Amino acid sequence: MKVVAFNGSPRKDGNTSILIHHVFSELEKQGIETDLVQLSAKEIHGCIACYRCSQNPDRHCAVKSDAANEYIDKMLGADGIILGSPVYFQDVTPEMKALIDRTGYVARSNGRMFKDKVGASLVALRRSGGISTLDTMNHFFLSGQMIIVGRGIAFGREIGEVEKDDEGIGLVKLLGQKMAWLLKKIYG
Ligand SMILES: Cc1cc2nc3c(=O)[nH]c(=O)nc-3n(C[C@H](O)[C@H](O)[C@H](O)COP(=O)(O)O)c2cc1C
Repeated sequence: MKVVAFNGSPRKDGNTSILIHHVFSELEKQGIETDLVQLSAKEIHGCIACYRCSQNPDRHCAVKSDAANEYIDKMLGADGIILGSPVYFQDVTPEMKALIDRTGYVARSNGRMFKDKVGASLVALRRSGGISTLDTMNHFFLSGQMIIVGRGIAFGREIGEVEKDDEGIGLVKLLGQKMAWLLKKIYG
C-alpha cells in the first residue's frame, strides 16, 4: 500500500512538510509506503480550459510542458492521497490550486479515475483561514468520489513553530493512524 503527499508550500521543509512527516511516520509504522512531492520543486500551472482531456480521455493532461502528468501518475499509483497547504490569504497556495485543477479535471474526464482512494488534507497556518483552506482541498476528494478519512491543522508561522502546537500535532498523528487503519480495511 502506498500514500503520496503533495506539499503546496513554496517552503520545501516548512511547517506543512513537518505535518506531512508526522502522518508519514504513523503510516510507515504500519508498513505503508510513502512518497512526498514538493510542489516547489517543479513548475505547475493552472488549467487553460482547453477541454482536450474531455475530448481525448487518455488519463493525462494535453499540456505536457510542466509536472502535471507526473503528479497524475503518482496519484494513479497510490492508494491514498494527502494534500497539504499553508494558508495563504485564507486559502490554499496557487501551486496547490493548480494541482487540484489540473489533476482533478483530468480525473473527472476519465470516469473519476481516483475514485475510492483514501484522501486526507493538512493545513499549517499562523492565525486564520484553516477551514476554508481545508474546504478547498476536500472538494478535490469529494468531487473525485474519493473517501475522506480526516484532516489536520496546526498553528505556526516560522519554520518549526507547528511543533509547539501540541494539540494540533497530536491530531495530525491520529490522522495518520486513522488513515493506516482505513487503508488496511479497504486494501489490506
Ligand atoms: C503570502 C502569505 C499569506 C499568508 N496568509 C495567511 C493567512 O491568511 N492566514 C494565516 O493564518 N496565515 C497566513 N500566512 C502564514 C502561513 O500560513 C504560515 O506561516 C504557515 O505556517 C506556513 O507554512 P509553510 O512553512 O509550510 O510554508 C501567510 C503567509 C504568506 C507567505
